[in-house]
Amino acid sequence: RRPPRVVNVPAELVIVANRLPVDRVTGPDGEPEWRASPGGLVTAIEPVLRANNGVWIGWPGGTDSGLEPFEHDGLTLDPIALSAEEIEGFYEGFSNATLWPLYHDVVAKPEFHREWWDSYVDVNRRFAEHAAARAAKGAMVWVHDYQLQLVPQMLRELRPDVHIGFFLHIPFPPAELFQQLPWRRQILEGLLGADLVGFQLPGGAQNFVRLVRQRVGHKTHRDLVYLPDGRTVRASAFPISIDVKGFEKLARQESVTARAKEIREALGGPRRIFLGIDRLDYTKGIHARLRAFSELIAEGELDVEDAVFVQVATPSRERVEQYRVLRDDIDRLVGRINGDHGRIGTPAISYLHASYPREEMAALYRAADIMVVSPYRDGMNLVAKEYVACQYDDGGALILSEFAGAAYELRQAWLINPYDLNGMKAALREAYHADAKDLSRRMRAMRKTIKSADITAWARSFLQAMDEVRPAHGKTLLP
Ligand code: F6P
Repeated sequence: RRPPRVVNVPAELVIVANRLPVDRVTGPDGEPEWRASPGGLVTAIEPVLRANNGVWIGWPGGTDSGLEPFEHDGLTLDPIALSAEEIEGFYEGFSNATLWPLYHDVVAKPEFHREWWDSYVDVNRRFAEHAAARAAKGAMVWVHDYQLQLVPQMLRELRPDVHIGFFLHIPFPPAELFQQLPWRRQILEGLLGADLVGFQLPGGAQNFVRLVRQRVGHKTHRDLVYLPDGRTVRASAFPISIDVKGFEKLARQESVTARAKEIREALGGPRRIFLGIDRLDYTKGIHARLRAFSELIAEGELDVEDAVFVQVATPSRERVEQYRVLRDDIDRLVGRINGDHGRIGTPAISYLHASYPREEMAALYRAADIMVVSPYRDGMNLVAKEYVACQYDDGGALILSEFAGAAYELRQAWLINPYDLNGMKAALREAYHADAKDLSRRMRAMRKTIKSADITAWARSFLQAMDEVRPAHGKTLLP
């Protein structure tokens, strides 16, 4: 057994993300306990932190204040408290009702409120101050995502010695949309505090560089921005991935195989199971995919005895108005489809509003014949990659929106435009009838792709780029 690490020593690697990898929740006995927090970010960053023995600064959910740094499952976690007003202004407001819809193609209308912006600035400053206090001299600080875009600049002012990386997990919008933001210049300058700004796709990096040139007036060349103080900032794409081996190992477990069989049986042993797994978010295109499926049933192309759609929707941002509206919409749609097309014991859609542990997700991926990922816009979409990672026998079909970052790598999926209902129906139909040879040819190619670009490769390429941008760094953090 290793002796427990002293939690408060300065760290060589500091991860700064809105959420900690665990949320503090109240357990059934009324006592606080820690539970895995939502979203793909945690899955992506955790291995990097483990490999480097760093510290992770983030919000533990809720409004508890005065929480001290602690060790959890071998990770050093440093909680930052948010007040109820900050949750409303910074998190639900500016992050998730302004930036989130704006960065996702304005799928929902972004709201611009000056009080929310003020709260965003305050909370970003608190994160920056915290990181400044925790980082060792010359440490690497890796800031994550749209909630914390001002942190790089604020941190640089406090600690010019540290090396700052920033990675945006969601899309970075084209100038035509970003320009709507009343605080567009502050956000660009905030990001320019980093040495390296990472995006999911080259298009996001190009949007950023173009905006910096147009709005801030800095000189740029390809993926480089030249600042007046002599500093250079690089903006490039680093498509994020998953722990491919870990997922495959999980999928091969006997317990998971048994559970997958149980799921199939519980669904009445249909010929084909369609599956959707998403955070309940209006960007995910849940509505469109369920409509496409129900039209195929209504038109007699599919029969509920042969095909069922399992839709798992993980509760998310439930106090934000747009998310409440969406939940009601989906509830209504599922009720209508099942009412119109279901039979006793055989609903057309099996809808679950819940979040499940990884084992259950793997069993669902194994049970499903056709995975439907149909976002209107998505930074990457790790569910698509997780599904592929679990198909170790090269079976199963993936239907994937061309507006998900993952579509740039998973070219052999049935690529769809989620706005084109007939196109989506055609893809569902084709995947339903596809022969085993076609399925395995596609799946084999996609598996090859993700195996060579897993989460370790992602972290490695980002950290390698950091080493190149700031060679003075000296010590490498490559896992
Ligand atoms: O990956 C996008 C993301 O928004 C993360 O930043 C976030 O942690 C996750 O999805 C889940 O969202 P939230 O933290 O708002 O519950």
